[in-house]
Amino acid sequence: MTKRALITGITGQDGAYLAEFLLKRGYQVHGMVRRSSSENFDRIGHLRDKVQLHQADLLDQLSLVRLVDAVRPHHLYNLAAQSFVPTSFEQPLLTGEFTGLGVTRILEAVRTVDRSIRVYQASSSEMFGSVREEPQTETTPFWPRSPYGVAKVYGHWITVNYRESYDLFACSGILFNHESPLRGKEFVTRKITDAVARIKLGVQKKLKLGNLDALRDWGFAGDYVRAMWMMLHHDRPDDYVIATGQKHSVREFAELAFAHVGLPWEPYVEVDPKFLRPAEVTTLCGDSAKARRVLGWEPEVSFPELVAMMVDADLNRVRKEMA
Ligand code: NAP
Ligand code: GDD
Repeated sequence: MTKRALITGITGQDGAYLAEFLLKRGYQVHGMVRRSSSENFDRIGHLRDKVQLHQADLLDQLSLVRLVDAVRPHHLYNLAAQSFVPTSFEQPLLTGEFTGLGVTRILEAVRTVDRSIRVYQASSSEMFGSVREEPQTETTPFWPRSPYGVAKVYGHWITVNYRESYDLFACSGILFNHESPLRGKEFVTRKITDAVARIKLGVQKKLKLGNLDALRDWGFAGDYVRAMWMMLHHDRPDDYVIATGQKHSVREFAELAFAHVGLPWEPYVEVDPKFLRPAEVTTLCGDSAKARRVLGWEPEVSFPELVAMMVDADLNRVRKEMA
């Protein structure tokens, strides 16, 4: 029997990688997209004839119930969210609606339509915020530092609560930062690799960044969507930290990205206070021992490989744009 998977947030970075991953494994892939006056399918353009897209919105409960009822997925991956931390300070209520309450709406749709649907919730290392211990594990207390992080804590606990209350097969994946050539250009890694490519090719002069000392545990998105799938294939629902266990600073990322094209980083990078946050998460580093032991998950792409992959992809893209 062909397995059906439903992905909310299929137009995002992880949605695109996950759709490709599931198609390769023979799944019938359905994606939820929200209505927009102009289509935003750049990341899944190459998959358009292979995935079935449906309109619904995290803000509209009935649209979610109808969608889940129409697709009747075996697995539902809830990736949709307002995912950019600075925007959550500007639009805290909307972020709470999408990123927090949206999770309850998804779980309610599943509870209403068919409780046997397995659910993956995209939780985040941003929940650890002002970290209580290092490295962070599934039992490290949360101390979120942004409205986004607060909303994700709600999404995490409501997922755990529906698992305990209604016996849903609901997993919360606590994923640390993961990047790729499909990463949005507002996130620091892609902002850097896009700028490095443009500076190398002579169409940009400077790169303005915020906190260069911030430390993150950066992995490759392709490795992380595999972990999502592994969680839903285990015989028991549970929560897992997914991380590489290594942290690097924004400065190191920039240094490596510029070095990859043979340039020093210092003459090109300027600090602009505009990119500092009202409250910062200064350091994150995850311990994914549980996922490695129970699921057999391992990251495959190293930090230098990730930086090189992203810079090379941006060089190719900018070259094409120039031509
Ligand atoms: P992303 O690229 O920002 O994609 C977010 C997706 O959510 C997009 O498809 C977006 O649709 C959709 N969306 C937003 N609001 C919606 C709404 N009201 N109704 C329907 N769809 C909506 O994010 P990502 O990097 O792929 O991350 C996927 C998930 O993992 C997110 O929940 C994120 O918070 C979480 N996460 C990410 C990371 C990471 O490092 N990437 C780490 C931990 C957790 P549009 O295309 O229409 O905007
Ligand atoms: N975006 C951005 N732009 N960040 C900058 C900049 C800049 O110019 N300069 C320094 N930074 C620092 C931020 O202050 C932060 O400490 C770090 O770089 C990473 O920022 P982002 O790439 O925006 O990611 P994030 O860590 O805030 O959030 C991402 O990871 C979370 C998991 O921990 C997002 O993908 C979230 O959705 C995800 O949950």
